[in-house]
Amino acid sequence: MRSHFYMYLHSVFWDISSNLVKVYFEKSLSQDTSIGNYLRLMVILFSLLCCFLLNITPGLAIPVSNNISPSIYSQKSPSVDGIGKVYMGREIARVMGHTGAGWLERPSREVEEAPSKLIAALALKPDDVVADIGAGTGYISLQMAPLLSRGKVFAVDVQPEMLEIIKYLQTEKNIDNVETILATPKNPRLSPHSIDLALMVDVYHELEYPQEMMEKIITALKPGGKVVLVEYRAENPLVMIKRLHKMSQKQVKREMQAVGLKWIETKNILPQQHLMVFTPISRE
Ligand SMILES: C[S@@+](CC[C@H](N)C(=O)[O-])C[C@H]1O[C@@H](n2cnc3c(N)ncnc32)[C@H](O)[C@@H]1O
Repeated sequence: MRSHFYMYLHSVFWDISSNLVKVYFEKSLSQDTSIGNYLRLMVILFSLLCCFLLNITPGLAIPVSNNISPSIYSQKSPSVDGIGKVYMGREIARVMGHTGAGWLERPSREVEEAPSKLIAALALKPDDVVADIGAGTGYISLQMAPLLSRGKVFAVDVQPEMLEIIKYLQTEKNIDNVETILATPKNPRLSPHSIDLALMVDVYHELEYPQEMMEKIITALKPGGKVVLVEYRAENPLVMIKRLHKMSQKQVKREMQAVGLKWIETKNILPQQHLMVFTPISRE
């Protein structure tokens, strides 16, 4: 913003100076020396003013960009369940490997986490297109799919083994509106303006490139689209989940705000997790 103002100031001074020079030479050629002397003085004064304001005064000098922005990530020695990479004061958690698939599908999950309440709270419409980012085994994707009779689920994950499990379970359950997408750590590989909702259940805290991923996710939202994050409550010591796999509401809100998402509400309906709803700031 500030640099734009100085660029504008610079162009105004430049215009005025060059017009004065032009008029000066025209008048010199017409040999009107009194006007010529007056204009010469004006040119000199304007040149001095430009130098003073734009180059010499430190506070007003045009900032020179060297195109090197400091990294948004820093490194520390990794914690037991972390990767040692720090983003906005939070160490990023280790990705849950595909060998943990059985834990995602555990029968006690409904009692412990009430995922059916979570899905009901999303108030999905039959023609909605939902991206389940970090879909894992498709535990949530395959429960949402039957509610989207005219819509679909994009089940997105970085682990091909997880996508194989989703395809297997999808065939078993005879569900045909779930499309798997192999993401990269920086890109969910969703088309722009293709989804109504981006859902991340126990995923955000382990994104290796949270900022890059969120920027891509926002681009993939249709106008009026929403982002829903479900994260274990870090504020509650009774939630028996590894520290880096839990997040506080304050931290989630900070990180979403940093990428241009506005907090709408937190639905306190789940036994152990926050269910937080966001929307892009510029699309309200
Ligand atoms: C704890 S599991 C949660 C799975 C699923 N959401 C559920 O609740 O059953 C986290 C999943 O996120 C995936 N993941 C991690 N980083 C990712 C990324 N950058 N893009 C897509 N998926 C990612 C992991 O591969 C893993 O399957």
